[in-house]
Amino acid sequence: MTVPSLAERFRADFPILDQTVNGHPLVYLDNAASTQRPTSVINELSRYYRHDHANVHRGLHALSTRATALYENARQRVATFLNAEDPESIVFTRGTTESINLVASSWAGNELKPGDGILLTQMEHHANLIPWQIVARRVGARLYFLTVTGDEGEIDWSQLDTIFTDNPIRIVALTHISNSLGRINPVAEVCRTAHKHGAVTLIDAAQSAGHMPLDVRAIDCDFLAFSGHKCCGPTGIGILYGRKSLLEKMEPYQTGGEMIVSVTFEGAEWKPPPHRFEAGTPHIAGAIGLATALDYLDQVGRNSIQENDHHFGNIAATRLREIPDLRVFGPLDERAGIVSFQLGKIHAHDLVAFADQHGVALRGGHHCNQPLVRKLGLHATARASFYLYNTESELDRLVAVLHSAAKYFG
Ligand SMILES: Cc1ncc(COP(=O)(O)O)c(C=O)c1O
Repeated sequence: MTVPSLAERFRADFPILDQTVNGHPLVYLDNAASTQRPTSVINELSRYYRHDHANVHRGLHALSTRATALYENARQRVATFLNAEDPESIVFTRGTTESINLVASSWAGNELKPGDGILLTQMEHHANLIPWQIVARRVGARLYFLTVTGDEGEIDWSQLDTIFTDNPIRIVALTHISNSLGRINPVAEVCRTAHKHGAVTLIDAAQSAGHMPLDVRAIDCDFLAFSGHKCCGPTGIGILYGRKSLLEKMEPYQTGGEMIVSVTFEGAEWKPPPHRFEAGTPHIAGAIGLATALDYLDQVGRNSIQENDHHFGNIAATRLREIPDLRVFGPLDERAGIVSFQLGKIHAHDLVAFADQHGVALRGGHHCNQPLVRKLGLHATARASFYLYNTESELDRLVAVLHSAAKYFG
């Protein structure tokens, strides 16, 4: 008996996929930019706005009490999803970008001294690069980079211990899965080495949170960031997990309503974490929708999603490599479901526009990895990224479109 694929079991949960684009059935392969939402999330957002919406934490009336309970339950749901020790270690943000900015500003901005080191890799998304550039400039810290080599985007992890021994690294911040290479980094080992040298760790889990089991206690990271919209949840909601002992020592990132215990004309006293970091009215519906999305991912099974991603990432990379004059970036095996490539001399934007004419949604550009793409000798690459609802016949469509593009532009 053959086991039904994830797409056979779950694709019908995503109504947006059932449409034609430019006269062709949509093939959505832009999941690394944003995934689609299942009906359960869409329905929960609608249900919340129809029945329970009010501002949180402030009111004593029934709707506010209900909205507050749903919002705080969502925090608990995220803590369980990450196996965090405590819901108070979960801060709601706008997304990965804001989470990292929060740590760079509130932790690094106060803790780092002139000459201290910040260690990154050369495959970081701009969201995990620019905040560190800014804070380094502000406090006089220095950026160090783990070098990425070749089209496969390898990092020599054996140099890690020496980098910590030879340099005053105070924090290492790295991506779990590269959004342009599809490479999966050994984050638990990095955290172990960093802690041995007394450094703090931040994991950018934007591309891993919706794609594999994630356990902050097993990884033993100090901070971890991800975005709701990349794991079946709403846009505008994200998570910062922080070790409580660190969050407690951090100053707020923004200030205003809701994050205080008391205010005088002269000053204010902050609430403890996580509320200290959630100034103003939060994205209540976003948090509630995210909790429903996490329920959905656990219903599908994060191990199954991970296996499915590996399957599609590996066979897509193998089949694309068979296309003449096509250069695939990222590892030869053990890749996530993300495949970036360059076809002959065709500009990635032209290729993506051509694919769109055939109903295939790809991404073309530097993928917010400008220094890395430049290092590959390019300005842009095309990228196909797969998720739990993609089918083998959609991969066939991608391959066929790339063959047609080679002929059309050739
Ligand atoms: C690895 C990685 N980090 C950070 C981000 C930023 O995420 P967001 O735009 O949701 O804040 C992305 C988005 O593509 C990403 O892929």
